[in-house]
Amino acid sequence: MKPTIVGVSKNINRIKELIDQVADTGLNTIVYGETGVGKELVVQNLYQKSTRTGKPFVKVNCAALPDTLLESEMFGYEQGAFTGAERRKRGKFEQASGGVLFLDEIGDMSLPLQAKLLHVLQGGDFSPLGSENTVKMGAWVIAATNHELENDMANGDFREDLYYRLSTIKIHIEPLRNRPEDIPHLIDHYVKMYTAQFDGKELLTPSPETIEKLTTYHWPGNIRELQNVLKRLMILGNGEDNLDDMLMGNLNQPRAAGTPKSANQSATPMDILGFDSSAPPDLSSLSLKKIKKKAMDRVEKEVIAYVLEKTGWNRSKATKILKISYKTLLYKIKDLEIKPPESSEE
Ligand SMILES: Nc1ncnc2c1ncn2[C@@H]1O[C@H](COP(=O)(O)OP(=O)(O)OP(=O)(O)O)[C@@H](O)[C@H]1O
Ligand SMILES: [Mg+2]
Repeated sequence: MKPTIVGVSKNINRIKELIDQVADTGLNTIVYGETGVGKELVVQNLYQKSTRTGKPFVKVNCAALPDTLLESEMFGYEQGAFTGAERRKRGKFEQASGGVLFLDEIGDMSLPLQAKLLHVLQGGDFSPLGSENTVKMGAWVIAATNHELENDMANGDFREDLYYRLSTIKIHIEPLRNRPEDIPHLIDHYVKMYTAQFDGKELLTPSPETIEKLTTYHWPGNIRELQNVLKRLMILGNGEDNLDDMLMGNLNQPRAAGTPKSANQSATPMDILGFDSSAPPDLSSLSLKKIKKKAMDRVEKEVIAYVLEKTGWNRSKATKILKISYKTLLYKIKDLEIKPPESSEE
């Protein structure tokens, strides 16, 4: 079954068009966009629309494995190539022959491995570890990343020549907040899906007011976050009254996931948002949009400061953990006024 790409925005319509145009070309393609935006879904659609369906679809998560493992995983090895290599193993490149090789999180691949990948893409063949033989590359290579590779290239974290090799076709998926017209359609799609999935369970259907609220929210986790909020809303039933908390709860997730609590641990939401708690807030300052931005900045600042602290202000490491480009990190450090500790008090 082909997973459906739901949406009516210009961006989504263009992507659907591109998928039709590209599907049978086998041209190297890169799909990029923020986390949860639908990159894998687009890659699956490219595969399903091509004549390669029926052939393997092989995914490699370039961020999940250490360098040496990733290399043997991609290219395979001969028996005895290294201690523990008891028998020959076909790599993902070979397994994907005739089908699609999906290189997910390509922006996280190390520079030495990028060089090897480039070599394979240029030469059209490769040798498994410990082998003298070459294997012909017969897979359609599609990559995805949530990095801004242009910035990674400027910082020397991503090879320019590899980028040009991979990106004959570029598909950029806009964040959900830039295409709010898609949100009601996505809600409708997923409400139907969950109704069928949780058949027999009493479920709440979001009211028009809720749908409107969800349409103006800025969805940092994109469609994946929307799915989670909808599920909670429908299953918990009383969710509509708590919608704001639910969305704010989502905003605060990084803190819940382990950020150390700071001095404002018991601060009220008003404190967190920077309002003077000793005086009633000026009503004209309570635009929900501005508040959301403030809350988001606040959370971002804490998370970035935390990661920087944990990495000893190693910005390169921090960008990898935060999955943002170096340039974005520098911008945020400046914009959010994140300062390195003057003395090591902790
Ligand atoms: N346009 C869309 N229509 C319907 N469902 C979508 C759409 N975009 C994304 N989804 C769904 O949202 C979820 C997240 O999408 P996906 O895994 O493709 O995102 P991703 O960009 O690969 O995320 P990550 O960067 O975290 O890997 C999936 O269940 C996917 O099917
Ligand atoms: Mg993905």
